[in-house]
Amino acid sequence: MISNYFQYLKALVRGDKKGAALISDVLSKTGIKEKEYISEEKCNYNLNGVKFCVTWDPNILGNMRSSEQCFILGKAQPMIERYISLNRELQVKKVFDMGILQAGSVVLYDQIFQLNKIVAIDLIKEPVEALTKYIEQRNKSNSIKPYYGINQADRTAMESILSTEFSEKDIDFIVDDASHLYAETREAFNISFPYLKAGGRYIIEDWGWAHWTGEPWQTTANPFGKSEAMSNLLIELFMLAASRPDFIEEIIINHNIIIVKKGSGQIPMQSFDIGNYYLLRGKTFNPWL
Ligand SMILES: C[S@@+](CC[C@H](N)C(=O)[O-])C[C@H]1O[C@@H](n2cnc3c(N)ncnc32)[C@H](O)[C@@H]1O
Repeated sequence: MISNYFQYLKALVRGDKKGAALISDVLSKTGIKEKEYISEEKCNYNLNGVKFCVTWDPNILGNMRSSEQCFILGKAQPMIERYISLNRELQVKKVFDMGILQAGSVVLYDQIFQLNKIVAIDLIKEPVEALTKYIEQRNKSNSIKPYYGINQADRTAMESILSTEFSEKDIDFIVDDASHLYAETREAFNISFPYLKAGGRYIIEDWGWAHWTGEPWQTTANPFGKSEAMSNLLIELFMLAASRPDFIEEIIINHNIIIVKKGSGQIPMQSFDIGNYYLLRGKTFNPWL
């Protein structure tokens, strides 16, 4: 299993950079060796005096750790620009971020939006030391809350966090950059979408891996193996937007991001399942891609 992942890694190093962050996710779970701190020379982005290494380099994403001087951020620059421009149209004050990795996104959102609260989760159990120090140094323990060892598809754990941290159901911005798998991403949507406020945005990053060009994506060496494509969820979101425009007002997509704008309808808490709310002339939708 692990050697397979290194094959994907080599393929990515050869040129396919789109999947590097996804691969790094897999590598980071292997815990193969102690990660080195990223050096300050690798910082290539500065926001309000906070430095980041914005990268798709799988060696950095998979094998290095953030330092207080430089946070590793697994995003493309256009995605950062999009979030900065979203900040001009939305007053984002509360964020829920799925997929901490090296905490680059948590710190990025804190700096872009100047947040009242950001809650973040990750399957990885070990806290990101640089984030712990960032929080301590700025006295932000009430506004930045990382939860480690949490599966985005675990309804009990997720509900417990969301109902405690966002009891007003007034999140402005939810970003799913975690598993990139259909079933987990769908369940995370079911659990957290009701906590988004009307007009808030639900973002799913890197949804299109099953349709990206070249190796390993269009081969059997795809790191997600035979997993169902995320486009199944996109179809379900389209159907929900048509059947319940009061739930989904608008969907914007490009090759690597889905942005769902929430409508003003009252979405049932606790038991929400997207599959129960779109109409399909009596047929049942089964993921087929
Ligand atoms: C692509 S990285 C996140 C990158 C980060 N948001 C950034 O912009 O720098 C994906 C992260 O999601 C986590 N992850 C993968 N599957 C998950 C799941 N089912 N639940 C929660 N986290 C998961 C991985 O451990 C990894 O740290």
